[in-house]
Amino acid sequence: MSTYKNIVILTGAGISAESGLATFRASNGLWNNHKVEDVATIEAFERNPAYVHEFYNELKKELVKAKPNKAHLAITRLQKEYDANISVVTQNVDTLHEKAGNQNIYHIHGQINQAVCLNCGRILETFGDIDTETVCPHCHIAGMMKPNIVFFGENLLCMDKVDRLLSECDLFLSIGTSGVVFPAASFVQIAKYNNAKTYEFNLEPTSNNYFFDHHIYGPAGTTLPAFVDEMIKNK
Ligand code: OAD
Repeated sequence: MSTYKNIVILTGAGISAESGLATFRASNGLWNNHKVEDVATIEAFERNPAYVHEFYNELKKELVKAKPNKAHLAITRLQKEYDANISVVTQNVDTLHEKAGNQNIYHIHGQINQAVCLNCGRILETFGDIDTETVCPHCHIAGMMKPNIVFFGENLLCMDKVDRLLSECDLFLSIGTSGVVFPAASFVQIAKYNNAKTYEFNLEPTSNNYFFDHHIYGPAGTTLPAFVDEMIKNK
C-alpha cells in the first residue's frame, strides 16, 4: 500500500447496516416498504407535506437511537492516526459519522436532524418532529419547513467542495453503496480519472464495480477496520 495525502471516503446505507439501520434496496429495505414517489420527491412533498413529514419523523426516531459501528469507528481511527486530508462524503442522512467522531463530513443527501425553511432558506437543527405547522425560528413563518433531505430531482448539497475533493484525491474508498444513484455513483469515475486508487467495500459486486481497482467483499464492520490497520501499519 502506498502513502496517500488526500483521501475521500464515500459512504452509503451499507455502512450503517451493522448499526441496525435498514438500507434502501435490500429485500427488507426502506424503498421496499415505501414508494419513492410518495416520500422522496419534491412533487410528493408539494402534494402531501403532512405524509412526508410523518415518514421522516418516524425514520428520525429510529436513526436517533442508532449507534455507530466498527466501520464508522475505523474511519475515526484512520483520521487520527494517518497523516492525510481525509474527508467523508456521505449519502446517509443518519448522523452516525458524527456520533463516531469522524471529521470533515459532507452530507450530500442532507441530514435527518435538519429542516430547511422554503421561505428564507435557513436551516433548523432538530431531532424533534417537524410538521406543517412548524414555525421557522429565523423568519418566523409557519408551515414552510421541509426536511433537509435531498429529494429525487433536487440538487445535491456541498457539491462545490466535493468536486474539489474528488479532483484532488489520490485514494477513493466507497463503502456500502449500491452505486445506482447518480451523481454519487459517478464519483469513482471522477476519482479514477484524476489517478486516484479506488477501492470498493461491499457485501457483493455492484453495478459500477468496473471502475474500482480493488474490491473488498464482506461486512464493512469487519473489512474496514482490517484495511485501516494495514494502512496505519504501512504508512
Ligand atoms: P442501497 O440500499 O442502494 O445500497 C446499500 C449497499 O450496501 C448495497 O450494495 C449492499 O450490498 C451494501 N451493504 C449492505 N450491508 C453492508 C455491510 N454490512 N457492509 C458493506 N456493505 C453493505 O443504499 P445507497 O447506495 O446508500 O437517497 O443508496 C443511495 C441513495 O438511494 C440513498 O442515499 C437514498 C436512496 O434513495 C436519498 O434518500 C436522498
